[in-house]
Amino acid sequence: MKVTRATFDDVMVPNYNPANMVPVRGEGSRVWDQEGAEYVDFAGGIAVNVLGHCHPELVKALNEQGSKLWHLSNVFTNEPSLRLAKKLADSTFADKVYFANSGAEANEAALKLARRWALDKYGEDKNQIIAFNKGFHGRTFFTVTVGGQAAYSDGFGPKPGAVTHCDYNDLAAFEAMISDKTCAVMMEPLQGEGGIITPDVEFVKGVRELCDKHNALLILDEVQSGVGRTGHLYAYMGLGVTPDILTTAKSLGGGFPIGAMLTTAGIAAHLKPGTHGSTYGGNPLACAVAEKALDIVNQPEVLEGVLKKEALFRKILGEINDKYHVFEEIRGQGMLLGCALNEKYQGRAKDFMTAATQEHLMCLIAGMNVIRFAPSLVIPDEDIVEGLARFERAIAAVVSAE
Ligand SMILES: Cc1ncc(COP(=O)(O)O)c(C=O)c1O
Repeated sequence: MKVTRATFDDVMVPNYNPANMVPVRGEGSRVWDQEGAEYVDFAGGIAVNVLGHCHPELVKALNEQGSKLWHLSNVFTNEPSLRLAKKLADSTFADKVYFANSGAEANEAALKLARRWALDKYGEDKNQIIAFNKGFHGRTFFTVTVGGQAAYSDGFGPKPGAVTHCDYNDLAAFEAMISDKTCAVMMEPLQGEGGIITPDVEFVKGVRELCDKHNALLILDEVQSGVGRTGHLYAYMGLGVTPDILTTAKSLGGGFPIGAMLTTAGIAAHLKPGTHGSTYGGNPLACAVAEKALDIVNQPEVLEGVLKKEALFRKILGEINDKYHVFEEIRGQGMLLGCALNEKYQGRAKDFMTAATQEHLMCLIAGMNVIRFAPSLVIPDEDIVEGLARFERAIAAVVSAE
């Protein structure tokens, strides 16, 4: 059966508006569409394809598991999930792991656990959740409510209650908001969807201290920033703070859907048998691929490589900006970078993304003012150079169309 982009408009719910070309094959950081045209991929499936497309080791892990055991549910445990949980615990602050299928589900579990922990320990009045404006935590109704963007959370009727928002990087406002009624604070250690906004280290440390003072849990949402993307296995490791709960997804599966919530034994104990669950959480196929992705990413040479590649991106982007004067700054860390548009190009990130696709470069936006790159952590330097040459042509096209 022949399907095209037009088929999307015929049969798909219109909540997405994908590009006109339909990708059919990927290898490393290159992708080919139905017509055989080739693209450089700086989008990485929105910070997911941590080792590019069809990495041979991930394909091998998937094939091996695929001929052994696909699914069991949580009525039975399985070896890949136990191995992955052990490796996650061994390489982070956590003692315990809960598996989900996506970032939103991992966050949903984290929020429910925090509420249950507070209820058990302090009673029902300790239920306030503080999160940050421009934050993004997923699209379930609880996570979209905790996320700080009305455009995503409004228009669906009554929201879960006791959720308040504070400006990111504003410690004084946060201090005024937190109290002994706060059960948890959810924050991204680098805001992704909100515009690639890095936190001040002092702000994060201050949030941690105030959480301790008020017996509130600090939940770090590392769905986008985790698994090597910032050059640290998890971004918290570069900030000098330790969360009580951490959520991870996206890069964790290298392209296979998986999410996880990590926490300490004491907190985990509050999610007793039957309190929460998921049919697919800990699926053997997903965990086998994620285990291999984690093994590869969690090596010093891969993590150091991320910072070298960031330097190459920044150098060439600086040169491009010297010619075209379109960016106010290049933000972010590692392989999660944002080109923030200057005053003259406010609101036009999408125009640049569309022009990039026309030049056969796949990239992303983060809000209306930031062009976002979230490529593979092992993208070859020549693909960075080629992709940015295409990006420069896209910029030239937008600028010259003025
Ligand atoms: C920080 C953060 N949290 C949660 C999510 C939601 O993840 P998912 O789309 O897998 O549910 C995202 C997705 O962009 C994210 O960036």
